[in-house]
Amino acid sequence: MTVHLVGAGPGSVDLLTVRALRLIERADVLVFDRLVEQEVLDLAPQHCERIDVGKRPGFSQSQALINSLLVSLGESGKTVVRLKGGDPFVFGRGGEEYEALHEAGIHCEIVPGISSSLAGPLSAGVPVTHRGLSHGVSVVTGHARDGAYVDFRKLANADMTLVILMGVSRRATIMTELLEGGLEPSTPLCAIENATREDQRVLRATLGDLADLDVHSPAVLVVGDVASLRFTDESFLEQIVDVTHT
Ligand SMILES: C[S@@+](CC[C@H](N)C(=O)[O-])C[C@H]1O[C@@H](n2cnc3c(N)ncnc32)[C@H](O)[C@@H]1O
Repeated sequence: MTVHLVGAGPGSVDLLTVRALRLIERADVLVFDRLVEQEVLDLAPQHCERIDVGKRPGFSQSQALINSLLVSLGESGKTVVRLKGGDPFVFGRGGEEYEALHEAGIHCEIVPGISSSLAGPLSAGVPVTHRGLSHGVSVVTGHARDGAYVDFRKLANADMTLVILMGVSRRATIMTELLEGGLEPSTPLCAIENATREDQRVLRATLGDLADLDVHSPAVLVVGDVASLRFTDESFLEQIVDVTHT
């Protein structure tokens, strides 16, 4: 009895790990989230049952239901692959699913995935660290459980890079708090929508533009000096909107 808890990477099918691919190709059941691409699901064999438990407006499967679904599928003895966008343990609630399976006595194999928090910025040519520009990186959520939001004033640090997931809807507050914390409005900012997918869109701006930025979810926001870098020659992949020059 094993459930494979697998990271599906940030989007593009060729950013799956080889281990993830091997498991998907022999899955009897795939339980997947909203951010997993159809092309990834298509890698499963024809007989494979595909169960969508993605949370989206108007439809939301509670985490408790997902946990009990995984437990009962795990007990069936089938090859069950639980596919989660990015890495299953970066704001993926992988820990809750692991605990539920572990408590039910079901073995859980964890397969890391490439997280959008690192791959998203890099797909726009933005490295999250760069010698001389950034001493480190903090990956934070803009949207926390039970209304317990991150206080961005405490994260304002010009020597560090800030990568924000799920921050689009609270971008005005995030901007205000980072400015109150001491960051300059001119701090470089890059927003990457649908990173590594065909409809990837990159917005280059400054922190002072964030509240009014025309950005849509899913997006990764990068704040810090590294956000002005562009280590890529693959401009055909993305639509670039340079707010700083308009
Ligand atoms: C619930 S979190 C899951 C993160 C995921 N576990 C990971 O490691 O990438 C969902 C958020 O991740 C970010 N995200 C995931 N995939 C993305 C992509 N392809 N492009 C931009 N942002 C993405 C967005 O901020 C989105 O709101």
